[in-house]
Amino acid sequence: MYKIAVMPGDGTGPEVTAEAVKVLKTAATKFGFKMDLTEFDFGGERYKRTGETLPDSAVEELRKFDAILLGAIGHPDIAPGILEKGILLKARFELDQYINLRPVRLYPGVETPLKDKGPNEIDYVVVRENSGDAYTGTGGFTMKGTPHEVAVQTAVYSRFQVDRCLRYAFEYARKYGKKARGKGPENTLALCGKTNVLTYIYDLWERAFHEIGKAEYPDIRRDYYHVDATCMWMVKNPEWFDVIVTGNMFGDIITDLGAITQGGMGIAAGGNINPEGVSMFEPIGGSAPKYTGKGVINPLAAICSAQMMLATLGEEKAADAIEKAVMYVTANKLKSLAAGRMGFSTSEVGDLVAEKVAQ
Ligand code: IPM
Ligand code: MN
Repeated sequence: MYKIAVMPGDGTGPEVTAEAVKVLKTAATKFGFKMDLTEFDFGGERYKRTGETLPDSAVEELRKFDAILLGAIGHPDIAPGILEKGILLKARFELDQYINLRPVRLYPGVETPLKDKGPNEIDYVVVRENSGDAYTGTGGFTMKGTPHEVAVQTAVYSRFQVDRCLRYAFEYARKYGKKARGKGPENTLALCGKTNVLTYIYDLWERAFHEIGKAEYPDIRRDYYHVDATCMWMVKNPEWFDVIVTGNMFGDIITDLGAITQGGMGIAAGGNINPEGVSMFEPIGGSAPKYTGKGVINPLAAICSAQMMLATLGEEKAADAIEKAVMYVTANKLKSLAAGRMGFSTSEVGDLVAEKVAQ
């Protein structure tokens, strides 16, 4: 019995989460596992009502679950940062979900803006460090509001944070890299950094990368790219990548770029992972206020996040079945992944995936 916390959140979050739950329930019946789902209403509406984001008591509650499924956090009436920091980032940090795993995979039948690239070329994973960097560094203003105002926001990494993330990424490359999947001659881990400017932080990353790689993972090829060049190659030669590891800020940025190359936010899934604790799975897109309540948003990113959740829980067969069902639906059913242009409503897309999983 898996205890799953469901946090649909804001905007289109509840619509896509409902489809992910629909597919999960179908998979549970088909593959014979049980789930106990508990819904939580943290998000913008609750904040407006009560002033509460994610209280400490809720964090303690969440620790008791096997996994968390999240829809979207962000509300057009609420200043940027309040819900993001108060709910999403609080959950990531307090539950020490120090890995943000974001596959960049082009599914069959999906259009990519990249010229002459297909599912064979666009097929890699970003391991984004999820506990440090400018996200948790300190900062502040001096002389705020004056012409001499200064703002400081520091980026911080400890060797401990870097090491645990790198080890996760090396392990991931060994298990799921291109060689492991029969898709290439070797498993490769690429560090994405900025050693020419961020000469402290990415110096630390680079030293740790080679030390750990040499000593513990000599079977894994190591590449290094500056973040600006990484963006260029993600567009020009995505087939060069296998597993990319990077800091929190660069990881945030390059995974939006990756998402658009795989067909957009409609399909981009992710997992905030604590390998020793509770992980939280979420589509990487936002709450899409423009499309809220219309039944036109694409639920595949939420469904793929649920799929990652099952894989992490060890339900490999169910996870594989969902992945294949999504591939079938993108290849044979959907006209587009874009909201309102799929040729189906949000719940019809959920039905299509669920029906395929049930077969
Ligand atoms: C993401 C989002 C978040 C982040 C925001 C909403 C805080 O952009 O999950 O990528 O920056 O991590
Ligand atoms: Mn982001």
